[in-house]
Amino acid sequence: MPRIAYVNGRYTPHADASVHVEDRGYQFADGVYEVCEVARGNIMDMTRHLDRLDRSLRELRIEWPIARRALEFVMREVVRRNHVENGLVYLQVTRGVAPRDHYFPAAGTQPALVVTAKRSSPAVAARRAAEGIKVITVPENRWERVDIKTVGLLPNVLARQKAREAGAVEAWFIDTDGTVKEGASTNAWIVTADGTLVTRPAEFGILRGITRATVMDVAKKLGLKVEERSFSVDEAKGAKEAFITAATTVVMPVVDIDGASVANGHPGSVTLSLREAFFDIAEKTPA
Ligand code: PDD
Repeated sequence: MPRIAYVNGRYTPHADASVHVEDRGYQFADGVYEVCEVARGNIMDMTRHLDRLDRSLRELRIEWPIARRALEFVMREVVRRNHVENGLVYLQVTRGVAPRDHYFPAAGTQPALVVTAKRSSPAVAARRAAEGIKVITVPENRWERVDIKTVGLLPNVLARQKAREAGAVEAWFIDTDGTVKEGASTNAWIVTADGTLVTRPAEFGILRGITRATVMDVAKKLGLKVEERSFSVDEAKGAKEAFITAATTVVMPVVDIDGASVANGHPGSVTLSLREAFFDIAEKTPA
């Protein structure tokens, strides 16, 4: 069964899917993206993801490549054509194809759109969640507008690779004042001794994660308190529990920070209950 990608109006075999050499995403990272989880045949939290896409596009003054309704259809269609029951759907919009020049291209240049989907194994994710993951910390070295979900991810790539080479899974960016900003591709959370969930406020300085927003809904349902405030690496190391959130990981326990165990080095019960309740509370759009 060949994989299918959507590229600028066409469904094409994934192996042949390509964009022009003068696509501004390729040349300038002049584009934005979204990643949605697909769970049990549903696209999760599609409304929130497309609302954030709208914001990213507006911040960068890129037009919608196609109408929102049409994009929803394409996302569902790509998931269907690839028979993805569990996995991810990825979409990317760039400012389009134009001769290389830093200025915006001529009015009327069509933004480029790519949508792909891939499967992942819930069993593998469940095993990882049962064990928990290790994170390392790295100094923040990204630009100030990380609230926009752009495809310019070089610091994130380098941080995550450093994590892998250190035997960890994720890297947390640390602010100059020693507080945790977020992971290279996830948001960061801790649980305090009294069971309060703590995560950094999402104005500027971190990406306003969709999973983060839905975990807040889950917390409310479970009667858990959430505090949006900064926390230091030391506070995280001494926390009762720690975890990360993203469409790619949902809620994933963190059991080790820079080689120091969090609590007893095992996933915490609050984290696991959030993970378990997530599917029921998140918005589900059948593909
Ligand atoms: N990353 N912070 C950063 C820097 C991210 O790149 C992401 C998502 C998140 C979590 O956002 P959400 O809950 O909306 O997935 C936080 C995606 C999954 C990625 O780059 O693959």
